[in-house]
Amino acid sequence: LFPQKQKRPKHIVNKKVKKEEPKVVDTVQIEDIGDKKAFCRCWKSKNFPYCDGSHNKHNEEQGDNVGPLKIVK
Ligand code: FES
Repeated sequence: LFPQKQKRPKHIVNKKVKKEEPKVVDTVQIEDIGDKKAFCRCWKSKNFPYCDGSHNKHNEEQGDNVGPLKIVK
């Protein structure tokens, strides 16, 4: 992703989701959301773009307060 000669940024938000792609873009059909769905905003979910609760561990370890975007009908 970053050529060796190019300086790597100090802080990367996305450490593991679809790193082979130049940009992570997800499309979810409204019909597939059902009554509610939680979308990950911490980039730690193993089921990205959906939240799997991984933000709890991150928050505990880092003293952060991130959480999902909840979509409800
Ligand atoms: Fe990322 Fe829940 S796992 S917000």
